[in-house]
Amino acid sequence: MDMIDFKTLYSVAGKTVLVTGGVGGIGRMLSSAFVAAGARVYITGRKAEALATAVAELSVTGEAFGIHADLAAPEGVASVIAGFCERESRLDVLINNAGQTWGAAFADFPAKAWAPVMNVNVQAPFALAQGLLPLLAAGAAAGAPSRIINIGSVYAETTEVMKAYSYTASKAAIHQLTRVMARELASSGILVNAIAPGLFPSKMTEFVLRNDTAREALLDAIPLGRAGTPEDIAGLAMFLCSRAGSYITGAIIPIDGGILIAH
Ligand SMILES: NC(=O)c1ccc[n+]([C@@H]2O[C@H](COP(=O)([O-])OP(=O)(O)OC[C@H]3O[C@@H](n4cnc5c(N)ncnc54)[C@H](OP(=O)(O)O)[C@@H]3O)[C@@H](O)[C@H]2O)c1
Repeated sequence: MDMIDFKTLYSVAGKTVLVTGGVGGIGRMLSSAFVAAGARVYITGRKAEALATAVAELSVTGEAFGIHADLAAPEGVASVIAGFCERESRLDVLINNAGQTWGAAFADFPAKAWAPVMNVNVQAPFALAQGLLPLLAAGAAAGAPSRIINIGSVYAETTEVMKAYSYTASKAAIHQLTRVMARELASSGILVNAIAPGLFPSKMTEFVLRNDTAREALLDAIPLGRAGTPEDIAGLAMFLCSRAGSYITGAIIPIDGGILIAH
């Protein structure tokens, strides 16, 4: 049996990584971790000033770059692909993290709450993978499988949808797309997995976390009794992108303190 090189088994150093929506929330937790671990990280953001600030902060610990784009429209997706291809000839890791939600009561849920949510949460991840395929394949050809990680949600798997009907449907769609893409891209040396978070503090969850009653109800539904941390989510993503994760594809991995088992 070959000896296992434990020193590098979980390493992501030297990898080129693109994280959509890396300015704040989970995207920032992931990009900070990858930069600090020695990866070369590109993040996208819609607000030029916030993007520049985030890139400057990330650059204190390593290599970080920004691409300004709105992923709700195909032109935004095209500008991310063009911006990335201008600077790089291979991509090791694509993290489709950017996500939108929309909350309203069932009876009032508006028609306009569908297109932007489906575009950002489902169509953009697909189109980015499609447009960046040659660069992902080039990364794979360099010796290790490339990775696509889609950020899904445990709320695609439960009926606790918190009145976010298009959101839960979009997350179920990205879970299924993950499996289909994993099968499609396996022969190109590209692994495709989804991380399905439970509760992590971010702008998206701020409105529930600052309401005492809602926060208590959410925490009560988590067997481990707490929200997720940057270390929790970064640890999983880095494992998936390291050599240790080389044999995992098409998986939807909950990171939820047990929400799903308690449901
Ligand atoms: N936090 C949780 O508990 C939780 C649970 C399950 C799943 N998730 C998923 O985790 C991902 C990150 O969410 P978060 O919780 O970190 O929330 P967040 O802080 O609100 O982050 C959402 C990210 O998506 C980006 N985004 C939204 N609309 C966009 C658009 N039209 N074009 C480009 N980027 C856009 C935002 O970028 P800007 O900087 O441009 O605003 C932001 O970086 C999402 O996919 C979300 O569904 C989160």
